Amino acid sequence: MTTLAVIGTQWGDEGKGKIVDLLTEGAQMVVRFQGGNNAGHTLVVGGETYALHLVPSGILHPGKTSLVASGVVVDPGVMIGEIRALRARGVGITPDNLKISEKAHVILPYHKLLDEAREGRAAGARIGTTGRGIGPAYEDKASRLGLRMGDLLDQPLFEARVARALEEKNCLLANLYGLKPLAVAPILEMAGAWADQLGPFIADTFRIVKRAADVGLNILFEGAQGVQLDIDHGTYPFVTSSNPTAGAVSVGSGLPPNRLDKVIGLVKAYTSRVGEGPFPTELVDGTGQRLREVGNEYGTTTGRPRRCGWLDAVVVKAAVDLCGMASLAVTKLDVLCGLPEIRMATAYLLDGQRIDHVPGPLSDFARVEPVLETFEGFSEDISGARTMAGLPRQARIFLDRLSEVVGAPAGLVSVGPERGQTIFPGSFF
Ligand code: IMP
Repeated sequence: MTTLAVIGTQWGDEGKGKIVDLLTEGAQMVVRFQGGNNAGHTLVVGGETYALHLVPSGILHPGKTSLVASGVVVDPGVMIGEIRALRARGVGITPDNLKISEKAHVILPYHKLLDEAREGRAAGARIGTTGRGIGPAYEDKASRLGLRMGDLLDQPLFEARVARALEEKNCLLANLYGLKPLAVAPILEMAGAWADQLGPFIADTFRIVKRAADVGLNILFEGAQGVQLDIDHGTYPFVTSSNPTAGAVSVGSGLPPNRLDKVIGLVKAYTSRVGEGPFPTELVDGTGQRLREVGNEYGTTTGRPRRCGWLDAVVVKAAVDLCGMASLAVTKLDVLCGLPEIRMATAYLLDGQRIDHVPGPLSDFARVEPVLETFEGFSEDISGARTMAGLPRQARIFLDRLSEVVGAPAGLVSVGPERGQTIFPGSFF
């Protein structure tokens, strides 16, 4: 049996959907362990495109169990909508193949209002959040004011806790942001409907993961976002409110740390970032625009255009080091096709000094100059390549240099959006 985590090495949007979907074939269980519906994974399965935000990608494969573990924050309305939309397209979802942790925190209407209000007010200090209430929900989890999915099934407790939370939230909504205070009753009514529809899916997911590991199932842990958005290790404060690093697999699902066998790092062949924050290899010229258009770099969740730039191997190395990545899955290599030259940052200059790591203080990171190496481009259509040898020489040189700088080999290369358009010699399980 193997437990495998797939983690984004950059600022998210590395093309996880396709890779997770591919790896799901070898897994019996797929687990989301952090984040919420700020994530958006696009999958093309059997010619059909699916955009999933909360339901694990494993759901598209019959016979697999998908878990939303305790480290995730769940917007029940979004979850219900996603289940309904998938069922309408013939995807079989039952309480047998989808389980939601009783301990996962609930995103409530005031979390979304506070997220949006804070972003709206913070002129010059916006994070550029997805506005889905993610940060405020994790804040309440940490301040012990949150409500959990299991609480939906205990109405008197839910009512008392919402009333208590609203004492604080209404103060902020009305006095700080000039918004209308919220009443308990409509939230309770909503929660009643959520409990009716999601109640059968609510379970003790830790015990399910533990049992699966004990009996030797292959388990795939599906990361959301990317290492540079990690609240501890990323480019704080321009980060999300969870830990997209491999350590969170254990914290967010309960799998003991010594039971995680392998971590695969997802690397897009260039870099993108949504929202604010420093981005050393950003291209604000025609090449950046070209990457955005050819790579369709528009948010799955918000539709926002993503900022694009050259591959930053310093950032990828930080992820490899933090997560113990054994191997890389390189995505969207085909997007680079046709560029006369390709670049990659392999170090930074900080005040004239060469460094090979992401500096901790944001003010330092905002000042670094990327040391860019230039590679010959390739113009052949690579979508038909199924072996490394089938790639143009220039593309192989680029990938080899990446592996050398970050200290991990490319075990998989995606050369197009379809599942089959992949160089994947063997299985990761
Ligand atoms: P939040 O997660 O909505 O609080 O947003 C915080 C930051 O993380 C913003 O810069 C978002 O654009 C970014 N972010 C959150 N989720 C994703 C994702 O799935 N892909 C890329 N960026 C994300």
